[in-house]
Amino acid sequence: MDIGIIGAMDEEIEILLKNIKISKKEIKAGMQFNIGTLWDKEVVVVRSGIGKVNAAVCTQILIDDYKADKIINVGVAGGIGENIYPGDVVIADSLVQHDIDTSVFGDKLGQIPRLEAFDFKCDEELVKLAKNACEKNTNYNSFVGRIVSGDQFIASLEKINWLKEEFDAIGCEMEGGSIAQVCYLNNVPFVIIRSISDNASNGAHIDYEKFIPIAVENSTNILKSMIEAM
Ligand code: ADE
Repeated sequence: MDIGIIGAMDEEIEILLKNIKISKKEIKAGMQFNIGTLWDKEVVVVRSGIGKVNAAVCTQILIDDYKADKIINVGVAGGIGENIYPGDVVIADSLVQHDIDTSVFGDKLGQIPRLEAFDFKCDEELVKLAKNACEKNTNYNSFVGRIVSGDQFIASLEKINWLKEEFDAIGCEMEGGSIAQVCYLNNVPFVIIRSISDNASNGAHIDYEKFIPIAVENSTNILKSMIEAM
């Protein structure tokens, strides 16, 4: 049984691909699944592509075809909150898809209609492992809380204020919520670990380009510590 590791973009899995000893590569749904050993553990590393649909397809393939018994998603996120800065790390304890809206039928925003769960909870053991990994590092702050996902790059103060008020979110990105939903449907443990590339406010796209390398380095280092501790 393998650990499935998903990054949405090339930048987010670049360090992983430099370290993995690949035994096999397979293309499915246009995604390259890199099967091998990473820091002495059996893994499948894959770039899903950006957005919720790509991430959902990728997660289901990891579960069905590679029998992944846990899924870890690493990458970058927009930070929500005054004390959160680029390079800081957010570990999700739960995920909501902020762009789901059937409120006209009386549903809460973010609620997937006719699904029992409102938010998708990360595996407590994986969250603990991620937290422990962060404690070894003093270069950045880490936060545990809700990450929200949607098919939108968030770059406005108004929108992040809304995400904070409506969902009590500490970070926003574009894949975690759908990875979480697929893991929930398949009863597979998962965790989403993101490092902050921007403050999701005005000018976020400029910060994003600037801080991606440090954010990727931080989230990858956490993953390394976690994998070594498993
Ligand atoms: N990923 C990194 N920053 C983001 C933002 N501001 N919105 C959505 N996804 C992101």
